[in-house]
Amino acid sequence: MADHAKYAGRRPRPPAPTPRARIPGPIAFFRVLRRSAIEGLALDHYEKPIVFTRTVLGPVLVVCSPTALRHVLVTNAANYPRETLQRRMISDGLGFGLLAAEGEQWRNQRKVLAPHFTPERIAGLEKVTAKVVGRFVERWDSLGDDATVRLNDEVCDLAIDVLEAALFPDGLSGKAAIMPALKSYFRKAGRLSALDAFALPERIPRIPAFLARRSVATLRRLGEGTVDAWRKHAGRTARAGILDGMAAEGRAKPFTPIETRDIVTTFMAAGTETSAGAMCWAFYLLSLDPEWRTRLEDEVDREMPDGIYVEGSLMRLPVTRAVVEETLRLYPTVAVTARKAIAADTIDGRAVTPGTIIVISPWLIHRHRKLWAEPDLFDPGRFMPGAREKIDRFAFLPFGAGPRICVGQGFAMQEMIIAVASIARRFLIEPAPGFDIWPELTVTLQPSGDLPVVLRRRARMAPGDGSN
Ligand code: HEM
Repeated sequence: MADHAKYAGRRPRPPAPTPRARIPGPIAFFRVLRRSAIEGLALDHYEKPIVFTRTVLGPVLVVCSPTALRHVLVTNAANYPRETLQRRMISDGLGFGLLAAEGEQWRNQRKVLAPHFTPERIAGLEKVTAKVVGRFVERWDSLGDDATVRLNDEVCDLAIDVLEAALFPDGLSGKAAIMPALKSYFRKAGRLSALDAFALPERIPRIPAFLARRSVATLRRLGEGTVDAWRKHAGRTARAGILDGMAAEGRAKPFTPIETRDIVTTFMAAGTETSAGAMCWAFYLLSLDPEWRTRLEDEVDREMPDGIYVEGSLMRLPVTRAVVEETLRLYPTVAVTARKAIAADTIDGRAVTPGTIIVISPWLIHRHRKLWAEPDLFDPGRFMPGAREKIDRFAFLPFGAGPRICVGQGFAMQEMIIAVASIARRFLIEPAPGFDIWPELTVTLQPSGDLPVVLRRRARMAPGDGSN
């Protein structure tokens, strides 16, 4: 019997909306979309490889079949640029950085930025990541026994500190203002406007964009502040960051000041809330499952005998990695992305007309009844060595695939593994009174609420070494 099958039936079923019996009509779907798109999904979405719907925005294909996903994301990716509405939701706040850029602009940016995220470069950031996480754990330790903290705010701050230390060593401007501005932007601009839902012309101003204008102004100011701080320090900071790399390229046509700012704000958004949300879910899921928590604790006690992360031990933490991957399966931060067909095409034998919207939802793919056994249960065993290799590449897409795959994937995995291992080594995290969690999807999928948790200190040294 596979190791992970041993506990089948006893694994926790963490919160998720119950699939609807039928796909809601346009008005009901619009209402749901404004609240949280995953609430509108129906059984068909979770059971069929491809679901076709005709909407006011045009034909929509919700695609979960691995062959179809490979076709759209990789084989014929050039025919499927980012869908315009989703692109606008991103670009209204973050401008045309790597996430929202298309065509020549995207190719230029990706060429300059991707070299910062090669496996060698990521490995070079392990030490600084561990240092920031170590400081974070020490701060929690200084709060005393059984301190209560707001997990969401805490790990968001951690993710910002890691991003700053690793990629923007000259400093991120106005750090404390980044997360509130981002969250406010996503909350307001991430809601679908009625004008969009009914495909009214773009020149009519949208209410969500109007409501988000202050957070947009803040994000722009913070991006500019970061670029200014870098200009002041350029060449004088010990370690080079992304902005140094961009400047050193010596390209014939350098990025404009606005594009540079947009690249920075895009990283502030794409590289913080995403990992932070996943870390919140990871600790919540572990709090539901004493068996996997014990396996994780055994691993970190063995690999971190002094209570701190040991450089070079990333590959010796398979349980931690499996917990992080299973968390990303159940709660993929980028829970939905969309593309639009430029030219007529065929996907899995189905004719696709130009303008068709292709919805790619890691949330759905990861909970699809035909792709996963017991998809709603938390079971990191799926990702343990021996089982992980059997997972179809296109059944697990937390970081996407193809040319637009998450450029920060290696960075995020390293950060989350080091953080989850280091925190679990020192603390048992328990939901506190008032803790309430629910997945909410606007632009990204986030756990709702502040998530108050109690930090129970674990013994500092490895069990049995007599020094506790
Ligand atoms: C748990 C953490 C993360 C998740 C789940 C995640 C997920 C994703 C996904 C699914 C995409 C592709 C979207 C699409 O195909 O439409 C993406 C793109 C991107 N991600 Fe991440 N991401 C994470 C962390 C990060 C981090 C830490 C960074 C930066 C340090 C980052 C930077 C980016 C950028 C710049 C893009 C745009 C890439 C392009 O279009 O060329 N992400 N991410």
